[in-house]
Amino acid sequence: MESKNLVSITDFSKEQILHILDLAEAFEANPNQDILKGKVAATLFFEPSTRTRLSFETAVNRLGGKVIGFSDASTSSSTKGETLKDTIKMVSNYADIIIMRHYLEGAARYATEVSKVPIVNAGDGANQHPTQTLLDMYSIRKTQGRLENLNIVMVGDLKYGRTVHSLLMAMKYFSPTFYFISPEELAMPNEYKIICQQNNIPYYEMSAFSQEIIDQADILYMTRVQRERFTDLVEYERVKDLYILHNDMLENSRENLRILHPLPRVNEISQDVDDNPKAYYFQQAQNGLYVRQAIISKVLGLID
Ligand code: CP
Repeated sequence: MESKNLVSITDFSKEQILHILDLAEAFEANPNQDILKGKVAATLFFEPSTRTRLSFETAVNRLGGKVIGFSDASTSSSTKGETLKDTIKMVSNYADIIIMRHYLEGAARYATEVSKVPIVNAGDGANQHPTQTLLDMYSIRKTQGRLENLNIVMVGDLKYGRTVHSLLMAMKYFSPTFYFISPEELAMPNEYKIICQQNNIPYYEMSAFSQEIIDQADILYMTRVQRERFTDLVEYERVKDLYILHNDMLENSRENLRILHPLPRVNEISQDVDDNPKAYYFQQAQNGLYVRQAIISKVLGLID
């Protein structure tokens, strides 16, 4: 099986997405294996991360591989002016796979053009976060028993939120109905609404986080308003706390409802939700380990 990159969720077909989810199930049942013995993974994080980097590094360690890299680009030679091109060319001399997060949209795609080894996009600016999407889909399938015909409510920063962009693009195969809840300034970009239109996917946009919408949701996907993407901090202060989910808002919600959040959260999910059985965000992050084991195995061509 050939190795390949994972830069956008569109790099994988519907069948490949489902295959990753099946592989992840097998890794969840048996997370400690030796299939990466002798392999080195580089994690290059030009932007902060807790879950993505640590779950990728755990995935490599649990599969018997070794990890090199940096979690803070200020400790790398990029501070001396080294270009991304040179950094990637160099690291691809050392590692078998590069897992990278970068603040520039398109950085991961560019890296594939200069790398000798597969590139996995761990987030590029406000563009894409495809490995988060695969773990989101794994979490959806695991909690709902299916991916098809779900009411998915996305709340918060839909403009800069790369996780909702990737998730929308992947769920297009599964006949969802989307509800986009955001202030006008943080609305879902047109290009993603066009994808819905092209795929006959109904979507509804609104600025009110109403009880009626919560009560018909199967998945409530909360997101953080991303301060780091704002040039005007006054604007950020104005929108940052517009949507806060409290436990009493879930009283009449569907039995199967699950609350997802890519994390980190700031204020958008009140801590009183954490003990509600419908809160799934911490298990969602745990699922990231198994899904990333599957992704690494797949892009390195180690598993058919
Ligand atoms: N979900 C996510 O990307 O979290 P981190 O920023 O902590 O990696």
